[in-house]
Amino acid sequence: MVVLTCEYQPGLEGIPAAQSSISYVDGKQGILEYRGIRVEELAQKSTFLETTYLLIWGKLPTREQLKEFETDILYHRRIKYRIRDMMKCFPETGHPMDALQTSAAALGLFYARRALDDPAYIRKAVVRLIAKIPTMVAAFQLMRKGNDAVQPNDNLDYAANFLYMLTEIEPDPLAARIFDVCLILHAEHTINASTFSARVTASTLTDPYAVVASAVGTLAGPLHGGANEEVLRMLEEIGSIRNVRPYVEKCIQNKEKIMGFGHRVYKVKDPRATILQNLAEQLFEKTGYDEYYDIAKELERVVEEKLGHKGIYANVDFYSGLVYRKLGIPMDLFTPVFAIARVAGWLAHWKEQLAVNKIFRPTQVYKGIHHAAYIPMEER
Ligand code: CMC
Repeated sequence: MVVLTCEYQPGLEGIPAAQSSISYVDGKQGILEYRGIRVEELAQKSTFLETTYLLIWGKLPTREQLKEFETDILYHRRIKYRIRDMMKCFPETGHPMDALQTSAAALGLFYARRALDDPAYIRKAVVRLIAKIPTMVAAFQLMRKGNDAVQPNDNLDYAANFLYMLTEIEPDPLAARIFDVCLILHAEHTINASTFSARVTASTLTDPYAVVASAVGTLAGPLHGGANEEVLRMLEEIGSIRNVRPYVEKCIQNKEKIMGFGHRVYKVKDPRATILQNLAEQLFEKTGYDEYYDIAKELERVVEEKLGHKGIYANVDFYSGLVYRKLGIPMDLFTPVFAIARVAGWLAHWKEQLAVNKIFRPTQVYKGIHHAAYIPMEER
């Protein structure tokens, strides 16, 4: 018999589901650390690939280790033509997150050998996933417009190459650096819904492609990664500064969530939102203003005034959409871009889970009936 050791908590709120040394959040002070290093410092000094290495292997790489990792990633950016052919059959009206989930799972068909106790296998799987996910996101974007996918450009680094594969134009260095910082900011965030999915799937000792595919499916929802897309739709709907206050009041009255605000852990402004707001301003300065930014700032002010007492402030998704829009990324690719970054965190948790694995098998509180009779069809 299973003995319940604690009360049932909807959404497992406050229940530890893993021991982890990957990242740390202090929701009261607005602190986020990856392997002990503040995210602000990484955003300033690191690159996405260096941060990925740090998250997965636990330490900043030496110059040689980083070079080797970057070179491995560069060599594995291409995707097999069979994957491209499969993607060409996807309906162009399908959501890019569904396309990504399917493509990530399909990698498992091609790289099926599972040797979870072999560090070389783990490294290969990490390299393949980090390298190929952006290529698959960009490929679907071009294919759904009826175009061929663009091959990765070996002269461009990770972030610049993704923007190039999307637009076929080599990006401005500032735009590429800002995109790289966005990836750093989204790379990991303790045990949220998609990371929990990743760990649960990992705990069955399935392959890493299934782990990432299950996490992508979880990230897709509007209460998680999908919120950044909803934020822009909301700014579009609000339309002008003078509609902001009535919009917020209507949402509060109808008990509707305002997208891009609130967080299970942060009860102050998300530190990533502060950095992203700053990046948005840098981009606007270089490439021109965005009228949605004025609406966004006013919205943040009014939400803080009305809901700040409940600990509801801007989260990571609030300003990321404005940055992505300015970088020319279509709205429904915002969540796949989140996934490109978060694959680093998922893989770090996959590796950590394997090291101490016990299959997840929580219990439930049964609220149904017993001894029910089977009623014949004609009597129902
Ligand atoms: N707008 C208005 N009210 C809110 C909001 C919001 N965005 N978020 C929370 N509240 C209120 C909620 O109505 C409730 O009020 P009351 O106690 O009076 O009933 C209270 O705050 C607690 O809300 P909750 O939904 O129980 O809190 P939670 O910890 O379960 O939810 C959340 C966290 C992120 C799901 C929620 O804040 C939300 O739905 N936000 C909007 C969607 C969003 O921006 N998601 C991105 C999250 S950050 C990135 C990520 O995790 O992917």
